[in-house]
Amino acid sequence: MPNLLGVADCDLDFITYLLNRAETLAADPQPVLAGKTVCSLFVEDSTRTRLSFEHAAKKLGADVLTFTATGSSMAKGETLYDTVQTLNAMGIDAIVVRHRENGIPFQIAQWVDVPVLNGGDGSRAHPTQALLDLLTMRQHFGRLNGLTVTIVGDLAHSRVMRSLVSCLPTVGITVRLAAPLSLMPDDVGSMQVQAFTDLDEALEGADVVYLLRIQHERMADRFENLPAYVDAYGLTEERFARLRDDVVVMHPGPVNREVEMASAVADDPRCLMLNQVRNGVAIRMAALDWAINS
Ligand code: NCD
Repeated sequence: MPNLLGVADCDLDFITYLLNRAETLAADPQPVLAGKTVCSLFVEDSTRTRLSFEHAAKKLGADVLTFTATGSSMAKGETLYDTVQTLNAMGIDAIVVRHRENGIPFQIAQWVDVPVLNGGDGSRAHPTQALLDLLTMRQHFGRLNGLTVTIVGDLAHSRVMRSLVSCLPTVGITVRLAAPLSLMPDDVGSMQVQAFTDLDEALEGADVVYLLRIQHERMADRFENLPAYVDAYGLTEERFARLRDDVVVMHPGPVNREVEMASAVADDPRCLMLNQVRNGVAIRMAALDWAINS
């Protein structure tokens, strides 16, 4: 079954195929999913990922069934298993799932006989985010091989970081991580990265500064020391001004202005956040087409 559950297993050929297909479909969307039904099953909040998957499905001619946990029978005690079986019985051709627990998309893939695409599970993986980020970098720099990307912020709770770390080296990108020790992943020693606690050191020679939100909702204790964090790890206007002119800023959203970056940086043309959103629709078209039609 062509499931897209993570990117760690994606080789260079497959990544290149998806990026190229995304650009082709974005330039000229064809009704390659006409007569198909895509179900989006989001059991955790989302703006970009859910809407862009649904938009992508519709642009390719599919019908979309949108499930959201609030307002559903899950609120009446229905299990995830029974919910998934119910959706499957309606006759669907793919499920896009987001869940706060690690591994749920794998579980669902064992319950159904249609492709499952992971829209983010816990702190484990967010494959389409990593792919749309690669597309955004390739469009901007005209290449991926040889770039250096510094990922900054709450790395310990970030599925985006995990998916980036598991596919950037595949395309020849050097990955640096920068965070305070309290936000560094426990298993950083086994990752193919260079880890820094000093952001300014981690930014030397980088081509992309990739910022991540502090994911308060995934923390046991509230993160209290924001001013000190902003000082040491925020992309302030002063820090941004010290970067080379050709360095770009990326962020998966949602952004907390004046925390991970100054508001002026968020609105600067070198901040590619909206390119990332636009490429999200393109990548999700390619992913749905591959999952349903291959
Ligand atoms: C991210 C997510 O949900 O994993 N957002 C996204 O999908 N664009 C990052 C986050 O929540 O901070």
